[in-house]
Amino acid sequence: MAPLPFLHGLQVTVLSVLLLCWAGVCGGSPDPRHRDSLIQQEASRQTGGTVLLTEAERRLSTHLHKLKRQEVEGPQFPPAMHFFKARPFIQRSPVFRLLQKMPKGAALHVHSFSLVGVDWLVKNVTYRPLCYICFTLTQSVRFVFSATQPRPLPYCSSWVLLETLRAKVDNTSDLDHSLMQNLTLFTGDPDSAYPSQDTVWDRFEESFSAASGLISHVPVFKDYFYQGLKQFYMDNVMYLELRGLNVSEVKAVVEEAIHLQEEFPEVMAGFDLVGREDRGRPLWYFREALSLPAERGVTLPYFFHAGETDWEGRDVDENLLDALLFNTSRIGHGFALTRHPLAKELSRKRGVAVEVCPISNQVLGFVSDLRNHPAAVLLLEGQPMVISSDDPASFGAAGLSYDFYEAFVGLGGMSAHLGTLKELALNSIRYSSLSPQLKDKALALWQRKWDQFISENSQ
Ligand SMILES: *[C@@H]1O[C@H](CO)[C@@H](O)[C@H](O)[C@H]1NC(C)=O
Ligand SMILES: *[C@@H]1O[C@H](CO)[C@@H](O)[C@H](O)[C@H]1NC(C)=O
Ligand SMILES: *[C@@H]1O[C@H](CO)[C@@H](O)[C@H](O)[C@H]1NC(C)=O
Ligand SMILES: *[C@@H]1O[C@H](CO)[C@@H](O)[C@H](O)[C@H]1NC(C)=O
Ligand SMILES: *[C@@H]1O[C@H](CO)[C@@H](O)[C@H](O)[C@H]1NC(C)=O
Ligand SMILES: [Zn+2]
Repeated sequence: MAPLPFLHGLQVTVLSVLLLCWAGVCGGSPDPRHRDSLIQQEASRQTGGTVLLTEAERRLSTHLHKLKRQEVEGPQFPPAMHFFKARPFIQRSPVFRLLQKMPKGAALHVHSFSLVGVDWLVKNVTYRPLCYICFTLTQSVRFVFSATQPRPLPYCSSWVLLETLRAKVDNTSDLDHSLMQNLTLFTGDPDSAYPSQDTVWDRFEESFSAASGLISHVPVFKDYFYQGLKQFYMDNVMYLELRGLNVSEVKAVVEEAIHLQEEFPEVMAGFDLVGREDRGRPLWYFREALSLPAERGVTLPYFFHAGETDWEGRDVDENLLDALLFNTSRIGHGFALTRHPLAKELSRKRGVAVEVCPISNQVLGFVSDLRNHPAAVLLLEGQPMVISSDDPASFGAAGLSYDFYEAFVGLGGMSAHLGTLKELALNSIRYSSLSPQLKDKALALWQRKWDQFISENSQ
């Protein structure tokens, strides 16, 4: 069955064609009024297409449109380039600088292992006492904090105190730089560093293993977490929903970090299975475990990664429908959603938003030119959607602004406008797992920030 808004739109179109014909204006060349009406109808379907803008918002929207046009007509179009190469251009973009100032609401899809820029990890964490390092056969490193000499790891050199190592090398900034390289995928020449999707995923997994030894040390995680909240807060993000680490570990640490609520809005974690879908087990494999909460009558909200794949018709591709069968609250990535008309329809009907992470999808090899990202279609259809950054530190990004830039300029093309941005920010609160009361509070807070943003930036 087609979704209602579509049928409704179709009927309006048919009706207006009939009316125009009765009025005697449908012979020969098409009526320009009819054309305008079709264009308008289509525009109203996109995300933010029915958002009513104030006078000041319209001025800012026009200004943004002008800035975006300059970007489109310029010699370099960042969304068409690999993010690692595009980053310096984005940093100079006036559209990006506006997006940095814009209150973006919540980041609903971020992994705790990639929350904070790697320079902080190296410059701060690896300089703490009792930090050991070992070197793996795969040119990577592992870390551990220990009061005594740690037990050796398989396939890794013997552990050496970083303090001792630093005293030995001639140039510690070279060493620190190589440690940073181990913790992020970011490099100036991504094409030769990552010739295939397998190589980039392998390095991605290595970087998480390297980082985990630093981050999962409880005293570090508290500071790390605080630093992460601060970085998102500075990027005008007011609320975060985190995944990563395994759940039991996260709980203990998050409880300790709860006092941060005074300074930052609440933090909570849902449940998800994390990893590379194309190599992992499909959700259906875990059906017994995943059915436990329902069987026991308890509520455990699910936020599944689903459809993070280029492959149509394989097991993993079915994760989208399975996630919906297990009543997922949101769909992580949903990169394959456009290939599943039924899943798409269910997600729209039930208000199950897709968490679109454009930079992640590009860096991990699902799409190269972001104008061709499947969510470009979803954005035009007004599919429930939020924008997030997945693993910003791994990608050399920070907060949400880079992903908002790629969504607004790349996925959104010339048709995305201020209303689109406003709806995406509102969606991030609407589709969050906050209680209805907290949602109202968050919306009111966001609106105040938004009004201020508009008054400061619309001339
Ligand atoms: C590391 O970070 C902690 C917490 O933010 C801070 O107190 C400390 O001074 C920092 N240390 C260095 C060496 O930067
Ligand atoms: C260490 O190497 C970097 C370049 O890799 C250089 O800029 C810096 O001056 C060197 N520092 C020392 C103390 O030699
Ligand atoms: C990781 O660090 C080690 C030690 O400094 C270095 O030899 C290696 O090249 C680094 N690996 C990457 C991928 O940067
Ligand atoms: C949780 O993480 C720790 C290491 O950080 C690991 O030893 C343990 O097996 C993990 N538990 C699960 C259930 O994955
Ligand atoms: C999903 O929700 C439906 C309708 O509320 C319910 O009947 C079903 O048991 C739920 N399934 C799971 C796995 O929670
Ligand atoms: Zn993810």
